[in-house]
Amino acid sequence: MAHVNAIEPFRRFEIPGRVTLLEGNGDLPKIEVKSDWSHAEIYLHGAHVTDFRLNNQPPILFLSQCSRFAGNQAIRGGVPVIFPWFGPREGEPMHGFARQTGWELHETTSLPEGGASLRFTLPDVAGAGMWSQFSAYFVVTVTDKLTMELIVTNTSRDPQFCFDNCLHSYFTVGDITKVAVRGLKGAAYLDKADGYAQKTEEPDEILVSSEVDRTYMDTAGTVEIIDRSLTRKILVEKEGSNSTVVWNPWIAKSQQMPDFGNDEYKQMICVESGNVARNKLTLPPGRSHVLKVTLSSAPL
Ligand code: BG6
Repeated sequence: MAHVNAIEPFRRFEIPGRVTLLEGNGDLPKIEVKSDWSHAEIYLHGAHVTDFRLNNQPPILFLSQCSRFAGNQAIRGGVPVIFPWFGPREGEPMHGFARQTGWELHETTSLPEGGASLRFTLPDVAGAGMWSQFSAYFVVTVTDKLTMELIVTNTSRDPQFCFDNCLHSYFTVGDITKVAVRGLKGAAYLDKADGYAQKTEEPDEILVSSEVDRTYMDTAGTVEIIDRSLTRKILVEKEGSNSTVVWNPWIAKSQQMPDFGNDEYKQMICVESGNVARNKLTLPPGRSHVLKVTLSSAPL
């Protein structure tokens, strides 16, 4: 059976009580991680974190009930790893090939303070040959927070290894009309919902009452999602990230997406951390870049 074969090579990385290999949706291998404070699930497909929740609390990440789980498409929700390009690219999959590739589990570590850390490697994939040689690792650490690090190294002699990256995080909210996003005041952004018009964020808080699809430039600070319905705030802390994308598809886009429920826009918001558009990255030979995002929540 194909799914058993897909899991077996990684069994040796299991840690009793902490890290368990399972058959996930669509027969895709899934890793369940338990810390003293929280629960997480990660698919090898895309090295995709699909669940993170603190014990006895609603999920922090949002996962669509209509998501497909198949080798040739991205999971809808959780944290898609976007690399090496963000957005459309002619003749290529939207948002790069990393989120549609089966990553390899490389190492698992039980942390003495009560959590676990997992390291994934992006294998050589068709299409990557068009790029300079690189290595890409993804490290997920589960404690009372979820920490994700995408480490990319230029392993070629190419002086100009240019790429985008983004941890395209989908968050659960109680009611989108009672949500405010803080931390982007004064930032310049490209408004995709208005023909990529360049604008500046004026108010202290972003409120959502129609489609929002904005790429904020030069935004390295922490972003807060204030959720007055679930009476909590989610903190998105980042290092090595100069861009922030805020996305909610609202009504019409939700209806157009086959892998997303018509009403699910009410229960989610994406706050994505990375380096895209004019913040795209260039690495000289032998140099690495670390994109680090830490997610946590606190009562309001
Ligand atoms: C966001 C983009 O990052 O991802 C949106 O800004 C896009 O324009 C969204 O619609 C979802 O993309 P996809 O490829 O996962 O449907």
